[in-house]
Amino acid sequence: MNQSVPRSTWTSHWAFILVTIGSAVGLGNIWKFSYLAGANGGSAFVLVYLCFVALIGLPLLMAEILIGRRGRGNPVSAMLKTAEESGNSPWWALLGWVGALGALAILSFYSVVAGWIADYLCQAVMGVQVDTPEKAAQGFSNLKDNPLRTGFWHTVFMVLTVWVVARGVVRGIETANKIMMPLLFLILLLLAVWGAKVGNMPMAMHFMFDFKAEALTPGVVLAAMGHAFFSLSLGMGAIMAYGSYLDRETSIGSTSLWVVAANVVIGLLSGMAIFSLTFGYGLSPSSGPGLILQALPLAFSHMPFGQIFSVLFFLFVLFAAWTSSISLMEPFVSWLTERCGMRRARAAWGTCVPVWLLGLAVCLSSSSVAGFKVFGYDLLDGLDQLTNRIMMPLSGLAIAVYVGWMLGRPIVADEAGLKGRAFSLWFNVLRYIVPIGITLVFLGLLIGLDKSIA
Ligand code: PFF
Repeated sequence: MNQSVPRSTWTSHWAFILVTIGSAVGLGNIWKFSYLAGANGGSAFVLVYLCFVALIGLPLLMAEILIGRRGRGNPVSAMLKTAEESGNSPWWALLGWVGALGALAILSFYSVVAGWIADYLCQAVMGVQVDTPEKAAQGFSNLKDNPLRTGFWHTVFMVLTVWVVARGVVRGIETANKIMMPLLFLILLLLAVWGAKVGNMPMAMHFMFDFKAEALTPGVVLAAMGHAFFSLSLGMGAIMAYGSYLDRETSIGSTSLWVVAANVVIGLLSGMAIFSLTFGYGLSPSSGPGLILQALPLAFSHMPFGQIFSVLFFLFVLFAAWTSSISLMEPFVSWLTERCGMRRARAAWGTCVPVWLLGLAVCLSSSSVAGFKVFGYDLLDGLDQLTNRIMMPLSGLAIAVYVGWMLGRPIVADEAGLKGRAFSLWFNVLRYIVPIGITLVFLGLLIGLDKSIA
């Protein structure tokens, strides 16, 4: 371990809250949330998702921050150090590896989807209009079928990501979040107000919040739980890495509450804006992964000030994706700098190369010209399923078991900083509810109960 470089610390606990919200709020909350809710009965999905965020997401988020801060290192060394301190096997460090490598696998396809968003932003700036559903669908498949175009935007997005990570924890990651997150929130408020004015907000609210028991199938429950993981960036080392730069005085409980609340509010607000426009312009919410890329441009083409709002919307999604992608790269980059003594910039560019190549393969695989499949999946779908279905739940389960059962109550109580009942409540939920809940989902996913997910 290279001890000569002093470890960075976020400049304040608000900075930590902001960067963690930045990691959590991303394509998951906007692109995935809207099409999953659209395809899984709206309110049934939304309400179950909210329950899982509170019952599993929040306790796990706290556990991940706790490991990172206690171990004060990249996910691999944080696991190693805390295992050593608590007298557990060094094999627990494997969990850090699963996180750091899983995060890179996510980044490879995440960057491709973010590239699609960048392409749409460019079209919005140039004033490209799509006035019929056929044109909207054609526009999306033209993009996906052109690996040169998707590869180009994927490259641009990877460069943007590396550029921020290479600048360092405070100068790069914290500064980028401090600029982008307030802008993102401002744009979202504008979009929600405009969406309510020109769209159909009552119908959007009805779709998202009127509970319909009959829509509650096992598939919807599983989709909602998987999404709680993805949207809170859990199990992939990102939160652990960010937690390792947190000072000891900050309360893990209250910062986590802020992060979860902001993540939920931003997700719901963007869902409301998206569905209000979708319904307002007579479009279907269940059109799958193309929802925001097909339905929304159509709505923008027909609404007053449509071009301005489409530029704002795609900028909003791009900011959200960018602040998340830097957190996907950080776990591995911090391992390279701390374990191998590499300079940060070199570590970031070095990490970028294999991820970029895998992303190019994703672009080829998604196109119909050069399309190929791996085990019957196109690469984007395959990597998404592998990380979402297998790596995230398994890693979340292991983290709950590790903090709940292996670290030992004195270490956990000392680091968590929660008092009395609040501590007992969190600790018991982490010990019992989280592992049981995740095991049930995992089994459900394995036996294919989630067939209703789009
Ligand atoms: N939470 C991000 C989103 O909702 O888009 C995705 C993500 C980021 C997942 C970081 C995992 C992670 F470690």
